[in-house]
Amino acid sequence: MPAIAPEISNVIFEDHQPTVGDVRADLLDGLQREQKQINPKYFYDARGSVLFEQITQLDEYYLTRAERSILVNHANEIARCCGAHCVLIEPGSGSSEKVRLLLDAVRPAAYVPLDISAEFLYASAHKLGGEFPWLQVHSICADFSEPWQERTKLPSGRRVVFYPGSTIGNMEPDAAREFLVGLRRWIGADGGLLVGVDLHKSAHLLHAAYNDAKGVTAEFNHNILTTVNSLTGANFKHSGFFHRAFYNRQHRRIEMHLVSKEAQTVEINGRVIEFRAGESLHTENSYKYSVEAFRALVGSAGFTLEQSWFDEAGLFSFHYMTVSRD
Ligand code: AVJ
Repeated sequence: MPAIAPEISNVIFEDHQPTVGDVRADLLDGLQREQKQINPKYFYDARGSVLFEQITQLDEYYLTRAERSILVNHANEIARCCGAHCVLIEPGSGSSEKVRLLLDAVRPAAYVPLDISAEFLYASAHKLGGEFPWLQVHSICADFSEPWQERTKLPSGRRVVFYPGSTIGNMEPDAAREFLVGLRRWIGADGGLLVGVDLHKSAHLLHAAYNDAKGVTAEFNHNILTTVNSLTGANFKHSGFFHRAFYNRQHRRIEMHLVSKEAQTVEINGRVIEFRAGESLHTENSYKYSVEAFRALVGSAGFTLEQSWFDEAGLFSFHYMTVSRD
C-alpha cells in the first residue's frame, strides 16, 4: 500500500502493521493457556468489521444508538472541551462513522484514525477525506496496544484522544489503566480524552444485547475462527462450536465464549490443540462501569473526569477528562 495516497491530497496513510509472525505467536500463546483465549482485536477482519456494523444496527444492541444520541445532542459542548485546532486521535477508528458527528463542531486541525485493519482503514480514511475536504486525515495502521507511538510524528496542536464505543471495556481494568497511562504520556500535560463507556445495568438488557434474536453476534463470534484460520493456517470448524455470552455480575463484564460441542483437536502451525466437550475458548470481555467506578479507574491513571454526558434512557455514558496536576 502506498505511504501517501496520490489521489486525495488531504489524506496520509502510515503503515505500522504487525508482522504475520508476531500475530501467529500471539494467537498460539492464547490457545495454549489453561483457559483458551483469543484477543478480541482479531474480530475485525473485513467480514468481522461488516458484522460489527450490523450489530450496531440491531434492536437489542443499544450501545451505538445511545452513544450517537449523546454525540449529536452535545456536539457543541464536546467541541468546547476540545478547543480550537486540536489534533483529534481515534484509536480503533473502524469506519470513522462516529467522528463525523463531531467534525463540524470540533473543526480539528487534523484527524488521526488508528486501526489494525489496513484495508478497512485505508478505505475509510479516503472516504472521510473526500467528504471533508478541509480536514487533514493522518491515518495510521497499527496495533494501538503496541508501543508504535514513538515511530510516528503527528501534526502539531493540542492532542485529544477520542475513544468511543466502550472499546475500553474490552480491556481488563489493569490493562485499561496501563493503556490510559500510555495515552497520558503520549498526549502530554495539556491533552484531553473523550471516552464512551457502557454503563453497568440490569443483566437481562445486557444479555439481550449480546444474544440477539437474528444471531448476528453469534456469527460475529464464530467469524474470529475464520480470521485465526487465515492468519495461522489453523483448521477451526465453525460448526464445532456454539456461541455463549453472559453477564458476569461479579466482574461486571459480558463474557463471550465459543464452546466446543464435542471433544476435538485443531491443528495450528504443526501443533495440536485439544478441546474437551464443553470446553470454552474465551473471545471477549466487555466491562461495564458505573460513573464512580470509571472515575476511580481514570483517576488511578492520572486523569480527572471533567464532564459526563448520558443518553436519555441512562444506558450509556460519554466522558471528557484532562490530565491531573500532581
Ligand atoms: C466494540 C468492543 C464495544 O463489547 O460491545 C459487540 C464488541 N462484541 N457485540 C462490545 C461487541 C459483541 C463491542 N465493542
